Amino acid sequence: MKKLLLMLSMALLVGCFTAEAQNSMVITADQPQSTISEHIYGQFSEHLGTGMYGGLWVGEDSDIPNTDGFRDDVIEALKELQIPNIRWPGGCFADEYHWRDGIGPRDERPVRINTHWGMVEEKNQVGIHEFMRLTELIDSEPYISANVGSGTPKEMANWIEYMTYDGNSTLANMRRENGQEEAWEVKFWGIGNESWGCGGNMQADYYADLYRRYATFAKDYSGNELFKIASGFSDDRYEWTETVVEEAGYQMDAISLHYYTLPTGEWQKKGPSKDFGEDMYFSTLKQGLMMDEYVTRHSTRMDKYDPEKRITLAVDEWGVWTDPIEGSNPGFLQQQNSIRDALVASTTLDILNKHSDRVRIANIAQTVNVLQAMVLTDGDQMLKTPTYHVFDFYTVHHNTKLLPLHLNAEQYEYESESIPTVSATASKSDDGTVNLTVTNLHASELQEVTADIRGIDLSSVSEARILTADAVDAINTFDNPDNVSPQDYTDYDLKEGELTLRIPSKSVIVLRIR
Ligand code: AHR
Repeated sequence: MKKLLLMLSMALLVGCFTAEAQNSMVITADQPQSTISEHIYGQFSEHLGTGMYGGLWVGEDSDIPNTDGFRDDVIEALKELQIPNIRWPGGCFADEYHWRDGIGPRDERPVRINTHWGMVEEKNQVGIHEFMRLTELIDSEPYISANVGSGTPKEMANWIEYMTYDGNSTLANMRRENGQEEAWEVKFWGIGNESWGCGGNMQADYYADLYRRYATFAKDYSGNELFKIASGFSDDRYEWTETVVEEAGYQMDAISLHYYTLPTGEWQKKGPSKDFGEDMYFSTLKQGLMMDEYVTRHSTRMDKYDPEKRITLAVDEWGVWTDPIEGSNPGFLQQQNSIRDALVASTTLDILNKHSDRVRIANIAQTVNVLQAMVLTDGDQMLKTPTYHVFDFYTVHHNTKLLPLHLNAEQYEYESESIPTVSATASKSDDGTVNLTVTNLHASELQEVTADIRGIDLSSVSEARILTADAVDAINTFDNPDNVSPQDYTDYDLKEGELTLRIPSKSVIVLRIR
């Protein structure tokens, strides 16, 4: 009897101990799901502010060390992120860009006005050849966003021929005269950008017809197969997606979705990128999580005409958009980048990974100096933002298989609202490694997470890193560029397939387990 009582109280104790784990997840490692395309980790680089000029391109004669005009420090940093594709030249800029302006001798190129972004001079120093050199330098695929709003089908058809035809034609020969003998491979081709807004203020039916017309003349030359991306809407405008897919879906490979996270949720007063408290921290994370609903609902509308999910939902603009930094040109969209924004990146990437059966390409806005950037520059200085480090962590998921992950998470309550405390992705690489990224969104409380990883024998952790900070608005500055930077992560136990993680508040961790 005494023995039985002892056993009972021990069982109770164990029970209490298990119940202490605030969050739990079950990962089924032998039931891989969709492939997480590396293209979900794409970037977007528009001719906007100092995103291209100054941030990436300084010109061959600059004192800033560069290769063929692109600054070495930025190229080096971007290369580490294994960027699969980079979208160019816009954005809103794309629908007023004419590709012939950017070819031939640089000192003879026309000067235009960038009417969308600050009315500054566009000297066309970066054109097709320079952009393609950039893709080579960072080992990335080009994603060209072509002009529909102020262009013509002929102009676009000529652009494709110029870049991709390897035979004898006046346009292909012009490319050769301009220094590029071989035809380029260009897969991703956007047909218009925000055609409902800055790209022409069109209505869905009209755009669907126009898309069909442009897509008809967007030809595959010399074995180059275009992946045609239609302009989708943003946020919750589901009717546009439905109309365009219904009427033109048979001619497209993808339709886009744009969603920007505004800290306040208001375009008129978006909220600050630095010097904020828990209110702005919480509301930004909450807004960021809306991506799940938008992707789910756009995808459901697409299911009506495309139940096999042949057409990709291309989330080709996303990220945090705040008020511009005080004193900066408001048309340059310059903002700081904090641990908060890094957590929006990690939770958004978790959402996109989860929807990787439908979302097979995405592009964060924007790579350098604009909106939620990877790197910031000032003259010859450069720093990596907290968001950069999240993209670095998440390279483990590129081209892996998504694993089913059932998460039981505590709620992070703030005033009268709440969001889940934990977000995560589990994936499996070809060599059997299980990759796990976990975010603790709570502003002040450590979270314990137990992960029961089934269907695989795991015994060792080959990589464990953490990105965390001491304040919700912690940022990197040119004086303190490593304030928010990765550290080794050690606060975990792995025993018989069960992993226990203790994750400090406002952190992202990455683990690779074998
Ligand atoms: O990324 C900034 C702008 O946001 C893009 O140019 C446009 O497509 C969107 O409205």
